[in-house]
Amino acid sequence: MLTDHFGRPMRDLRISVTDRCNFRCPYCMPAEIYGEAYEFLPRADILTFEELTRLVSLFAEQGISKLRITGGEPLLRNDLSQLLGMLTNIEGINDLTLTTNGYLLGQFAQDLKNAGLARITISLDSLDDDVFKAMNGRGFTPDRVLDAIQTASDVGLSPIKINCVVQKGVNDHTIVDLARHFKGTGHIVRYIEYMDVGNRNGWRSEHVVPAEEIIAKIDAEMPLEPVESNYQGEVATRYRYKDGSGEIGVIASVTKPFCGDCTRVRLSTDGQIFTCLFASEGISLMTPLRDGASDDELRKILVDTWTARTDRYSEERAAAPNAPGSPRKIEMFQIGG
Ligand code: GTP
Ligand code: 5AD
Ligand code: SF4
Ligand code: SF4
Repeated sequence: MLTDHFGRPMRDLRISVTDRCNFRCPYCMPAEIYGEAYEFLPRADILTFEELTRLVSLFAEQGISKLRITGGEPLLRNDLSQLLGMLTNIEGINDLTLTTNGYLLGQFAQDLKNAGLARITISLDSLDDDVFKAMNGRGFTPDRVLDAIQTASDVGLSPIKINCVVQKGVNDHTIVDLARHFKGTGHIVRYIEYMDVGNRNGWRSEHVVPAEEIIAKIDAEMPLEPVESNYQGEVATRYRYKDGSGEIGVIASVTKPFCGDCTRVRLSTDGQIFTCLFASEGISLMTPLRDGASDDELRKILVDTWTARTDRYSEERAAAPNAPGSPRKIEMFQIGG
């Protein structure tokens, strides 16, 4: 089995299929930086479906069984369902899912389901109109995303997870409402501690609401109890409502980092491997692939990259919270979180 420097296997591959997004969340793609003039990747610099399928097959041979499609906003990639259909046929892949902001999901949910998508994760930071408008940077209200969640549920995508990034003073006063709204629906809300990903969101530790506080706030109104993890290395810590009406999760990557169990590898839109969400440098697979590399040559790059992996950024950050972060990190929209 392929393992990294700390003995961690490679199980979970996250693929960014586009660096574009129809939202401008200030913590990810602030509108003042990513305006009309910003140049996203040209089409020629984006992995094609055939290239992706070839690479994923090689990843699967090395132990990847779980795939997550991300962006930017993955539903902006043309014919995405066709890609999903190609990926579900790869031997060894037994969990295929996708993270979307939900804005275009209403129109694509049925196609995605037909193509073989089983479950889905939708980002939704608040149900409050004004808070959500500010947090998506486009002035969109949450009703369209809520309708899309219903459509996704109607077509049978299950489970549906709702990701909420919590920022102190921005949306932390609306987290209990979000939990209440989805309690009893079967959908799982997961609250994510705001992280210092990328270089452009001006992250400061004071902006983080610790997962413990999030749980305490919800528990005070709707009593909770802890639940065992679904699998080793699950990023979310699970809780269920004591009255049996469902579960929620918290992703405490700042206050309780989980690098020790991190089996995740990321492939950016332009075909670079990133061995950590906070990495500065990727290793290109696209360049050798387009230069005619054989499967063996590409396999060697994968194996060498993973074998040399020493990343544990969140743990290092927790140990030295005031140290300056890495000089230049990959942006979230380039590798999809
Ligand atoms: P399931 O497969 O449904 O358990 O989801 P997942 O574990 O793949 O979680 P998901 O992709 O929904 O991740 C939710 C959020 O957790 C991401 O958007 C990130 O903000 C954060 N996250 C996920 N993986 C990592 C990671 O490797 N490191 C850190 N620091 N944060 C992560
Ligand atoms: N901290 C935590 N989560 C983030 N996301 C984007 N930027 C950050 C950040 N700085 C989340 C998105 C989405 C997922 C892909 O990553 O809201 O749910
Ligand atoms: Fe788009 Fe997601 Fe980034 Fe928001 S967090 S700008 S929805 S990629
Ligand atoms: Fe994995 Fe890096 Fe996240 Fe740690 S910080 S859990 S090593 S991606």
